[in-house]
Amino acid sequence: MKFIHLTDLHLTVPGALLWGLDPWAQLDACLADIARHHADAAFVAITGDLTERGEVSAYDALKKRLVDFPLETHLMLGNHDDRKKFRSVFGGDGMVQSAVTRGGNGFLFLDTLKGPPSSAGLYDEERRTWLKGELKKADGAPVYLFLHHPPFAIGHPLMDLIALEEPEAFATLLKGHDIRHMFFGHAHRTISGQWRGIPFSALPSLNHQLPLVPGAVDTVYSNEPPMYAVVLLEQDRTIVHSDAFLNRTPAQMPPDAERSDWY
Ligand SMILES: [Fe+2]
Repeated sequence: MKFIHLTDLHLTVPGALLWGLDPWAQLDACLADIARHHADAAFVAITGDLTERGEVSAYDALKKRLVDFPLETHLMLGNHDDRKKFRSVFGGDGMVQSAVTRGGNGFLFLDTLKGPPSSAGLYDEERRTWLKGELKKADGAPVYLFLHHPPFAIGHPLMDLIALEEPEAFATLLKGHDIRHMFFGHAHRTISGQWRGIPFSALPSLNHQLPLVPGAVDTVYSNEPPMYAVVLLEQDRTIVHSDAFLNRTPAQMPPDAERSDWY
């Protein structure tokens, strides 16, 4: 099966730019590209920082954008979001956590928002109880986790100040379950690796990025290609492709060059 991961939309009040870019234009281009090339995906998971400042008008405009989007979407919160304002637009109450089962796999969408003034993540007792219940329900089936904050330091001096707190309690909860992969946001970078045996991947934001080496540019954030991930799941493998959809242009070559057999 196939699904899409994207993250860190940082949507503004419609019409307002963020760091010189229009996050709505970035999102529209992204959704159009997904609808055009990946309409067969089972769902799109968006791992938080839906908005830059959590305004009701931003959530409201996102909800309207998704009405016409043909794929099922699963929204999560990040440290830039406001749970109450999100709930006032999207409905429901409490933590923004959900679970779906597709093709015998469990997909768990977690809420790691701690809240201001902290930008770190939190997965407290209430949330852990929910996750414990969902992992029990999975009953040994493969599980894929989605969350905004990584529960470990990623080797970036700024990001490592605001990772998920209480990582040991989170790690303990996962032991003994078939956790196949963790998808997170927050980092505004492409990252892959493993944590305690669990493979993970993260993606750039749809708007601004965090330079790998602070000082590599004169500003805290940088302009680097936004990406979404196309994830292919098979029983024996997980493939995560990252597609820089805004930077995809034809190569400088005749259209009929290199068309012969490749074997
Ligand atoms: Fe972000």
